[in-house]
Amino acid sequence: MNNKFNSILETHVSNYSHPLLYKDFLKCNLGNACVCNIFAGMNNPKRYLITSALPYANGPKHIGHLAGAYLPADIYVRFLRSQKKDVVFVCGSDEHGAAITIQAMKEKTTPKAIVDKYHALLESNMHDLGISFDIYHRTSEKIHHETAQEFFTTLNNNGNLELKESEQYFDETANTFLADRYITGTCPICSYDNAYGDQCEKCGTSLSPEQLINPKSTLSGNPPSKKKTTHWYLPLDKHESFLRQWILVEHQSDWKTNVLGQCKSWIDAGLQPRAVTRDLEWGVKVPVKDAEGKVLYVWFDAPIGYISATKQWALNNNKDWKPYWEDKETKLVHFIGKDNIVFHCIIFPVMLKIHGNILPENVPSNEFMNLEGDKMSTSRGWSIEMDEYIHDFVKKENGGDIMVDALRYYLTAIAPETKDSEFTWKGFQDALNSELVAVFGNFVNRTFVLMHKLCNGKVPPLHQTIIDESDLKISNDILHSKKTIEDCIEHYKFRDALFEVIDIARKGNKYMQEKEPWIVAKQVGENGLPVPEAQQKIDNTLHYCLQLSANLAVLINPFLPSTAKKLCYMMKVVEKMLDWENAGKMNLLSIGYSLRAPELLFRKMEDIEVAEQIEKLKLKSKKIMETTNEKSTSADTAKDKVSKQTIQFDDFAKVDLKTGTIIAAEKVEKADKLLKLEVDLGAEKRTIVSGIALHYKPEDVIGQKVVVVTNLSPRKMKGIESNGMILMAEDPDGKLVFVSSDVTNGRNVN
Ligand code: 2FM
Ligand code: ZN
Repeated sequence: MNNKFNSILETHVSNYSHPLLYKDFLKCNLGNACVCNIFAGMNNPKRYLITSALPYANGPKHIGHLAGAYLPADIYVRFLRSQKKDVVFVCGSDEHGAAITIQAMKEKTTPKAIVDKYHALLESNMHDLGISFDIYHRTSEKIHHETAQEFFTTLNNNGNLELKESEQYFDETANTFLADRYITGTCPICSYDNAYGDQCEKCGTSLSPEQLINPKSTLSGNPPSKKKTTHWYLPLDKHESFLRQWILVEHQSDWKTNVLGQCKSWIDAGLQPRAVTRDLEWGVKVPVKDAEGKVLYVWFDAPIGYISATKQWALNNNKDWKPYWEDKETKLVHFIGKDNIVFHCIIFPVMLKIHGNILPENVPSNEFMNLEGDKMSTSRGWSIEMDEYIHDFVKKENGGDIMVDALRYYLTAIAPETKDSEFTWKGFQDALNSELVAVFGNFVNRTFVLMHKLCNGKVPPLHQTIIDESDLKISNDILHSKKTIEDCIEHYKFRDALFEVIDIARKGNKYMQEKEPWIVAKQVGENGLPVPEAQQKIDNTLHYCLQLSANLAVLINPFLPSTAKKLCYMMKVVEKMLDWENAGKMNLLSIGYSLRAPELLFRKMEDIEVAEQIEKLKLKSKKIMETTNEKSTSADTAKDKVSKQTIQFDDFAKVDLKTGTIIAAEKVEKADKLLKLEVDLGAEKRTIVSGIALHYKPEDVIGQKVVVVTNLSPRKMKGIESNGMILMAEDPDGKLVFVSSDVTNGRNVN
């Protein structure tokens, strides 16, 4: 061991003050510069258990769900499988809770009929879109009920739960307690007026019914009364120090910032005991004598669904499920959407810890994907359901798998990995036509066409003596891309990984363009064939292009598996070639081997298809809004809009933006949301009324630097004339935060 290595080893040891484990190396942020890469072997868990959030079997799911929790997990799993890792990928339908019973009421049927119908639909949709679960289970199975009950009993018997009597909302007309989705009201965080008692679907905040403003029963529409009931609680408050250490210290550098941010605000806000049972009929019965009419809270039993799914998978495959949940050398990763963070990062880990299971290594959570300028929502009809896409593009066409990969491509390219993103049909068309077709498809197609035309349909030989700089460069580029892609996938950066694959195809096109084999082929001899020197050049170019095509198959396989398979077919190679270890090799195709004619890998999307889909979306939404009789007020529409029309620079230039400091602030009487502010703009002071009182106390904002729109016409609010507007941003939790500036007051902002 050399000195450099020793010193880095010491840094690691002193940073983590315990023996080196593979996860310590993951935390090393020196990246490639660090000698800890020498220990690549240690960054090598014995097995992986990968989970995707269990969707509620209460209706179809849209492509935003697909992009959030299923597609990234599938890419990760396919990548691991191609490295021959021991990996199990589990998911299934979440079949309990009010989400199901309320849907049964809507469809005038039983909860059982609902879960049977939608479980089948979801399972087949996921399969059709290439999501390769090892098991797609369901929480209504006996094995799940038994597993969840055992879990509860163990916690209860070990004194890890508390039994408490409390007053809860009750609907006198329906004669039932109102938990979770049985109660709605205004969200205290974002003011959305249809938030559920357990969660606001608009801002994703997890709530309790008591937090709702103006609560009302979903059953009768009446304001609820209160009634005493007894429930079991998980005392999260007792686990605060564990959570702080485990999340905010141990995982501070390897978990995503959005995940860490939400966890921190939860922990900082003070953790409360959380009820894990409900007064309901539908669900897993509480396994305690005299607890009739009580079931486990759906969010208690659903994540245990990952365990019961693993058990069922093990039974089906004659394997042992236990190491996947009990052995510390298992890497457990939960893929979820941002509305599930608190359950997977706080509640379930506490349950796992006290039950004696391993904890997740990471919980890669995505933000939301919007659609054509608005929030994606099945209930408002503003969505593209997976089933709808399959119907319109996959089942209708011969070779519909082309459109499965097209969707997987676009959803990954715009994945909401760090912030909300937006699906537009035009964007889909552009990505498909100008990246997949024009770059990837074009490179492979040209290579195959030219190989058939200029090399008799066979892999041409490589003439060592004329290998030049650009030949060497393209080989090196492939090796480099392989490493970049690995690094990105290992860090859950699937977008970047995919861009790198496209980039290497782009380099292939450039290489071919520089070599111009079709021009070289014009140097013909008397026999009309290219002269030997020209043929040698052509051979080398197409040899490299073919090896690059084979590499592209390996590299694209986790993302676009059908495309990779089709490439194998064209190359007449077995799918074993797609093993990750083959990426970077320039001898994947044997010289003299005859290859098939090119197949259509992708197809262009026409303008008419874009127009049809947009029209269809508008009609669907209009129809649903009419039938549900929900009139979207202009205020609602404005609230949900995520992007506005493009404006010209001249329009923007009309806005006068200046820096300032808040020098005085007070509450506006009879207006919960308003603060009256005095802002110093350098040359003048202005009174501005701002709607931030729910987020800030007056004393918190004094001294705050701000950016002000100074040329808005004055507006009277609660009798006070407001002369300007302060720019604020909305953070992921719906809180308004200042867009502050640290320069002298009165400066122009351009
Ligand atoms: O939000 C949802 O759709 C839940 N059904 C997710 C459950 S994930 C896991 F805990 F099961
Ligand atoms: Zn909200």
